Amino acid sequence: MSNNKVQIFDTTLRDGEQVPGCKLNTQQKLVIAEQLDLLGVDVIEAGFPVSSPGDFTSVSEIAKIVKNATVCGLTRAVEKDIKVAAEALSYAKRPRIHTGIGTSDSHIKYKFNSTRDKVIEKGVAAVKYAKSFVEDVEFFAEDAGRTDNEYLARVCEAMIKAGATVLNIPDTTGYCLPEEYGAKIRFLKENVKGIDNVIISCHCHNDLGLATANSMAGAINGARQIECTINGIGERAGNTALEEIVMIMKQHPYLNLNTDIDSRLLYKTSQMVSDHMGMFVQPNKAIVGANAFAHSSGIHQDGVIKNRETYEIIDPEEVGVTESAIVLTARSGRAALAYRAKKVGYELSKLQLDDVYSEFLKFADRKKEVIDEDIHQIMKNTNVAAAVA
Ligand code: KIV
Ligand code: ZN
Repeated sequence: MSNNKVQIFDTTLRDGEQVPGCKLNTQQKLVIAEQLDLLGVDVIEAGFPVSSPGDFTSVSEIAKIVKNATVCGLTRAVEKDIKVAAEALSYAKRPRIHTGIGTSDSHIKYKFNSTRDKVIEKGVAAVKYAKSFVEDVEFFAEDAGRTDNEYLARVCEAMIKAGATVLNIPDTTGYCLPEEYGAKIRFLKENVKGIDNVIISCHCHNDLGLATANSMAGAINGARQIECTINGIGERAGNTALEEIVMIMKQHPYLNLNTDIDSRLLYKTSQMVSDHMGMFVQPNKAIVGANAFAHSSGIHQDGVIKNRETYEIIDPEEVGVTESAIVLTARSGRAALAYRAKKVGYELSKLQLDDVYSEFLKFADRKKEVIDEDIHQIMKNTNVAAAVA
């Protein structure tokens, strides 16, 4: 594997599915898992097998059909969880057990009423036990974002010794600033013995809207796996959005970081997840929102019609969107109206455009958006006939 490749660990079917109201049945999970495999993700976190019989079945069925990606099951640092996950993953070509425990002082004190040393012992036992079933074991240090770096380094070193292949450093509460999270990853890279033999993973939540920025800071500082979900869905304010990470790396080649994702499938995958989960994508969502490639102000429309790159940094086709949208509103100018009129069959002279534009403004002041049907009516009102093809 190239040292610049960042593995994409998709957790739409686990952390994403924890969103209230987004529950999927096994059949829906299978359809999404197949699409994620096509998209080119490296790891599919298929669920938390011990949590319910339904989750166990989903993980097991997904393990049977996924052709390329590693299939992963989540566990607590508890023997029963690990044993059940191993069973659910038994059909996977490339199985991974993802086990771990909270490492921040707050988790150690309030969740476990334990001590730092005992938490390390429990983590080591879990990794060793998982290792007795599968070769690929990922350890998560829950709430690593608020865990003291010196202690986190001790945790990581102990898990590497126990056999972990991937170390997940979650910012579980979405608390960190990008500089802080990036420095945390750098600190581990510089202070943990054996760190170069394992992959560091970023798992960032979006409580302050920083999940993507934090994951990128992690990758820039040496992490080589990012855990993310389609459309950024997940607990509370969500997880890092897969589509954002992929396109940031593509749009900034000088970072020298890349993924194996087929970006042309991003939009379709986003729609598929949104439809199955009944979770609509906010229109202004980066990359996959309905307005991500839509232009409505006259100045922007004029620029985009002359050359798309004036106001777009991504060619929509690169993410599977057929074309940029020129939306007609009262803020639109003549260039946008002529462009849209041409699309529905009217080639306007300069003189005609003046007449038609005045009529258009009357429509636009009454309506939020002027659609194709309105354009035909505007032409009728101003006696403009469609051009014969
Ligand atoms: O946010 C988190 O810490 C998690 C872990 C279970 C990996 O989802
Ligand atoms: Zn999470």
